[in-house]
Amino acid sequence: MLTRRLMLGGTMAGCLMPAAIGAPSDRPLRRRAAARGMYYGSAVGSYQLRDGDFADALAREANILVPEYELKRDTLEPRPGVFDFSGADALLSFASAHDMKMRGHTLVWYAANPPWLEEAVLGARDEKIFTDFIARMMGRYRGRMHSWDVVNEAIHPEEGRADGLRDCAWLKRFGPGYIDTAYHAAKAADPGALLVYNDWGCEGGEPWNDAFRAATLKLLEGAKKRGVPIEALGLQGHLSAFKGGIDRRKLVAFLNEVRAMGYRILVTELDVDDGGGPSDVALRDRASADICARFLEPVLDNSATQAVLTWGLSDRYLRGKPIPAALWGYLPRKLPLDATLKRKPVWQAIAQAFGA
Ligand code: G3I
Repeated sequence: MLTRRLMLGGTMAGCLMPAAIGAPSDRPLRRRAAARGMYYGSAVGSYQLRDGDFADALAREANILVPEYELKRDTLEPRPGVFDFSGADALLSFASAHDMKMRGHTLVWYAANPPWLEEAVLGARDEKIFTDFIARMMGRYRGRMHSWDVVNEAIHPEEGRADGLRDCAWLKRFGPGYIDTAYHAAKAADPGALLVYNDWGCEGGEPWNDAFRAATLKLLEGAKKRGVPIEALGLQGHLSAFKGGIDRRKLVAFLNEVRAMGYRILVTELDVDDGGGPSDVALRDRASADICARFLEPVLDNSATQAVLTWGLSDRYLRGKPIPAALWGYLPRKLPLDATLKRKPVWQAIAQAFGA
């Protein structure tokens, strides 16, 4: 449902016209973030770096990168003890060459695991099946990573556990303590990296989001009590332009509780699903900018927030491959730049949020 405000002219973000190149309001997102001592960046696949125009846009806009899939165990260790660091190394080289940080995603997850792993976990003698992996991955990049999503998406309240945790192979084999063990192993492997717990579901205003936020706070409170070295919460930030919405009051209260416990906050995978709306691209883009602005304003207003990363920079690679030109008008438009690398209202919304 489009709000009246949106139909009349949208948010500030939706009204701002892209500035002429070089004008102050043309300042790239990395510079706007840095002006507040923060980071803006994007998820990237190393294959995308072969696209010169895209690589130039990435270097212009981002001061932090995260591998979209090349630091996940299915890519890193396709067979037991056989490792492929080529993608992650290429991304780290690009980041280093362009004065960017890099963050690691992710070491312990229920998904993106190689086919051999799940059976190995369920039959594992001890936690070394993940603590050794953590030590090896983080040890390889020790001192060079801004942060790591050590554990990803461990919460799933719909499964009905009192602790709200997901009943994945890690939990089945090792119990809830696998989370604590993972973060202690991570802290030992790279004491200088910020250790992040990363998940989705805390952003929205629907009843299921309330349960998700409650379970997240329970996890963070328990970790703090037990001295588990989780240092930041990663809010993935997968938003929807035409479904659900943001309950600002609930989001602000949640973020304040996270900060009060001493955690830092990162937006780790921001994008906007613009499905379910009108076919008019301008209206879709404006609705996407509107929800972005409504999410980022309270998040960036919280002093614990350090970074915003979008889950990709351009719509060009939303299918894992360059989008054929003929299809551009009819595919999702989730990211700050369109498939031709032109800045969109979502870019303006992020710029505005940093500027605010
Ligand atoms: O492995 C190939 C590689 O050889 C090829 O060069 C490349 C380019 O075509 O594609 C690679 O394939 C796939 C890759 O996406 C790139 O599209 C991988 O097989 C596939 O597993 C991978 O899926 C990723 C998925 O997580 C699972 O890891 C998606 O890119 C990625 O967007 C998605 O991201 C997740 C976050 O990690 C966690 N939060 C939710 C988010 C969205 O689902």
